[in-house]
Amino acid sequence: MESIYLLNRQEFGSESNLGQVMTLEEAMELLSLWVKNDKLLFHMKQVGHLMKAYAASKGYDESMQHMWHLAGLLHDADWDQWPDQHCRKIIEELESRNIDPRIIRAIACHGPRYFGVEPVTEMEKMLYAFDELSGFVHAYSLMRPQGYEGMEVSGVKKRLKDKTFAAQVSREDIADASERAGIPVEDLIKFVIANQLRA
Ligand SMILES: [Fe+2]
Ligand SMILES: [Fe+2]
Repeated sequence: MESIYLLNRQEFGSESNLGQVMTLEEAMELLSLWVKNDKLLFHMKQVGHLMKAYAASKGYDESMQHMWHLAGLLHDADWDQWPDQHCRKIIEELESRNIDPRIIRAIACHGPRYFGVEPVTEMEKMLYAFDELSGFVHAYSLMRPQGYEGMEVSGVKKRLKDKTFAAQVSREDIADASERAGIPVEDLIKFVIANQLRA
């Protein structure tokens, strides 16, 4: 079955906009206009936080960390009000605002099976890798009496094997993203547990 989300293009934004970003305040303003669902908003904040933390862990400078942050923060911005236009709507919005093409492309490849765009850069691969895993680890934290306290990689792995737990989270995508990123799923889980934004 062909995905209804296929973007049918591989080029996003314009090279002439390299280095053009929005401020955190501008991004939050866009989210407050577009996203009424608090859970979805929190998911994007969590993914943005992980992206920023990962860029920082790699020693990237502040402006690069901010780009990674924005990609995570905005990746599902259109899901609440225009689910059938996900993620075309946010891509077009960022293009109209002349935002850096690297941020737009990262958003365009956060679901290669759905959008038909392959993650190539590290930022693209990590957004894909953190997206489902962040949500999964969060779901696991909600069922643990102590939340994130004392959470272990093995506990998350056990839940991944239990197909009835957070069944909407695609195990296939998690495995695929880890392979593409070249980072074992255990290491990704460890990073998410250590760096996840908590409620
Ligand atoms: Fe998405
Ligand atoms: Fe997401």
